[in-house]
Amino acid sequence: MINKSLFTSDNQKWETPIELFDKLNEVFDFKYDLAAEDITAKCKNYYTPEDDAFNYTWDQTSYLNPPYGREQIKWIERAYEQSKKNGNTIVCLIPARPDTKIWHNVIFNYAKSICFIKGRLKFGGSKDSAPFPSALIIFSNNLTDKQIELLGSLGKNFVM
Ligand SMILES: C[S@@+](CC[C@H](N)C(=O)[O-])C[C@H]1O[C@@H](n2cnc3c(N)ncnc32)[C@H](O)[C@@H]1O
Repeated sequence: MINKSLFTSDNQKWETPIELFDKLNEVFDFKYDLAAEDITAKCKNYYTPEDDAFNYTWDQTSYLNPPYGREQIKWIERAYEQSKKNGNTIVCLIPARPDTKIWHNVIFNYAKSICFIKGRLKFGGSKDSAPFPSALIIFSNNLTDKQIELLGSLGKNFVM
């Protein structure tokens, strides 16, 4: 049976497909998962809603699959600000909605790389593909050849 809650807009917990995370982790070597719960954390170090990631400095190489919905905007804005301030890399997995303000005001202007993922992801071990396309947004000073190669293998990657 399809889990209907997985496809409602109020579902904020689209869990990263582990195969995708493992590929990214191999070349980025993440130190923190910035938005997680104990059972979904992808790194040894992570923040939960109880911690509230916004109480902390994001100065490590970090992975961010933020809660879905309009509140994503503040997560993307902070990922950009923290990466710029601290000089670290933050990889964000978000829905590909390049018509929205956050894309035009922040992502297109300041991301180091934007990868439009080929095909639809199957979140949280679901058999069903997501009803929206996804993109990886990387805020960073510098990307390695291996990172660029991996991003290129996942979809159409633009390095700025
Ligand atoms: C889309 S899920 C990603 C879970 C996991 N990191 C992954 O990629 O599979 C977003 C997670 O952020 C958590 N979250 C919501 N608000 C948060 C906050 N203020 N600080 C840290 N985590 C938060 C949610 O509980 C949810 O588990």
